This record gives sequence, C-alpha cells and structure tokens, in this order.
Amino acid sequence: MKIYFAPLEGITTYIFRNAYSSIYGNIDKFFTPFITPSEKAPMSQRERNDVAPENNNGINLVPQILACRSDCFIDAAKELHEMGYSEVNLNLGCPSGTVCAKGKGAGFLADTIALQSFLDDIYNYAAAEDMRISVKTRLGYNEPDEFYALLDIFNSFPVSELIVHPRIRSDYYKGETRKEYFSYALERSKCPLVYNGDIFGVKGHDELTGRFRAVLDPVMLGRGLISDPSLADKLNGLTTQTDYAKFRKLHDTVYEEYRKVLSPDINVLYKMRELWSYWQNLFDGCERDFKHLQKAKKCSEYDDAVSLILQSREA
Ligand SMILES: Cc1cc2nc3c(=O)[nH]c(=O)nc-3n(C[C@H](O)[C@H](O)[C@H](O)COP(=O)(O)O)c2cc1C
Repeated sequence: MKIYFAPLEGITTYIFRNAYSSIYGNIDKFFTPFITPSEKAPMSQRERNDVAPENNNGINLVPQILACRSDCFIDAAKELHEMGYSEVNLNLGCPSGTVCAKGKGAGFLADTIALQSFLDDIYNYAAAEDMRISVKTRLGYNEPDEFYALLDIFNSFPVSELIVHPRIRSDYYKGETRKEYFSYALERSKCPLVYNGDIFGVKGHDELTGRFRAVLDPVMLGRGLISDPSLADKLNGLTTQTDYAKFRKLHDTVYEEYRKVLSPDINVLYKMRELWSYWQNLFDGCERDFKHLQKAKKCSEYDDAVSLILQSREA
C-alpha cells in the first residue's frame, strides 16, 4: 500500500521529513506544509528553505500551495518547477479562521464560481508546463452536501490526485469523519482518489476498508503517523510492534537538527513539546516525567526528562 505523509504545519518540516525518511523510509510521498504566495513574492525565505531540493535529498516531495489568486499560485508553481518539482498540491482544506476569511483553504470551497475560474487558469498553466496539480480538499465549507457540486467541478479538470479529508470546515479535525461522502467519491470521482482522516492504527484502517469495500491505496496519514511513527510499517505488514529503538533515533535526530538551527533553547523546546503532545500516547505511566518535560526551560532539563521517558521502554 502506498503511504503519503500528510502536511502538518510546524511539524513535518524538512528536518522532521529527513529524520523520518532516513530512519523509517517507506513513505511514497511527503507533502510540505502550505506555502502562501503573495503579490510581493511567490514564497518566503523560510518556505524556500523548507522546500529547497538540497534540504530534501532522496525524498519524494510535493510542495503544497495555499492561494485563491491564480497568478500568485502560478508564480509559486513556476518557481517550484524551476527547482525541479513536477507536481504541486492545492490546499482546499485549511479550516483556520484567518485563512478562510481571505477566501483560501476551505474558505475557497464556498465560492464555486471563483474556484472554477481559478482551476481553469492553473490547469491551463499546468498543461503548458507539463506540471501535475493534485488537490487536497474537505467536503465543503458550510455543508457536506456541497461536495456533490465540488466533485463535479474537480471531475472537469485533470486533477492528478484528489485527496479527500471527509469533514467540513467547521468540523476542524474533530468528530466522526463523514464516510458516506467518501463512498460517493469512490463511485463518482474521475480523479485518482486518496483517503485522509483519522487513521490511527491497523484496526481503524481495516474498518475503513470494510466500510468502503475497497482497498484504500494510497492513504494519507497525518496525526496517526506522528503519534506512532511505526504506523506506516504496521499498515504494510512489516511489523506489528512500535519500534522504540527507531523512535529514539527519530527523537534524537530531530532534536539534534533543531538544536543546530534554532536558539535559544526555549525555541527548540517549543518544537519538541509539540511533537511530544503526539508521542505521549506511546509512553503510558510516564506522566510525572512529561510534566518535567513540559516545564523544562533549558535543554539540560529536557534531556533529563526525556532520558527517563525513553528508558521506560528499553528492554
Ligand atoms: C497541526 C496541524 C497542521 C496542519 N497543517 C496542514 C497543512 O499545512 N496543509 C494541509 O493540507 N493540511 C494540514 N493539516 C491537515 C492534515 O494534513 C490532515 O489533513 C489532518 O490532520 C487529517 O488527517 P489525520 O487524521 O491523518 O491527521 C494540518 C493538521 C494539523 C493537526
């Protein structure tokens, strides 16, 4: 089964992607967190650095663009094409208030006329430049039934892959996913489909396969794969257990690499704490050490807490 690593802003940075890819491998595509082109520049220096080929060696990477103006989207796509990328992804899912207020992300789904004209422009560009454009979308902005019209629109363009997170904007990332709409997509989509949403274990994945009476391949994994970095290997039958030795390597590599580029200590610790908010579930019984980890202000204090947590899972 092909596994795609979902983009998670602030988490799946080039540092994390490199560490994951060298330690676990077996990811067919990574997607960058969104790049937001503006009239002034196709991308910021930070975004350029994250997507630079020299920072993503050996990784099959698809840069993601968040825009509602086709000229801005195309400027960013052109720069990415010059860097060597042959696929970019359009973000139609971001639920954030500030993003949606500007008519971008999930906010763009509310204006199907503007969306259609935007897609006309960007797919004309894609045809001329031999670029692939995939789309990552929600079901709609206000109502899931918006998906019927949206799918008709997507079906009229050469969308290279349609990644569907079956929720609407106001669902954010919570509550049951609206699986019946993904079933509809399976019946009606002319674009190759990718399922994304709430796959946290093999059991959950198997239930989805049963529910859809279809093998979900590829699947895109986000929080589940951060929370248990062995999940991709588990889904592919390569292991049944979380590999704590690999996990330690992942932790140490990400931590060391952030220490090289971030300072003072507290900025490194913000990054690591965010990761630990997902990793915590792998370490039942370490609640006291997590409190120390969350309170740490210096790397030395963090190191002490982490070594106790990691020791708890060593043979
Ligand atoms: C902290 C966070 C950051 C995210 N950043 C992005 C992003 O930059 N681009 C995007 O398309 N989706 C983003 N997402 C959505 C995820 O890619 C994914 O669609 C969502 O988490 C549902 O999949 P999951 O249940 O496997 O995590 C983000 C989600 C979270 C929780």
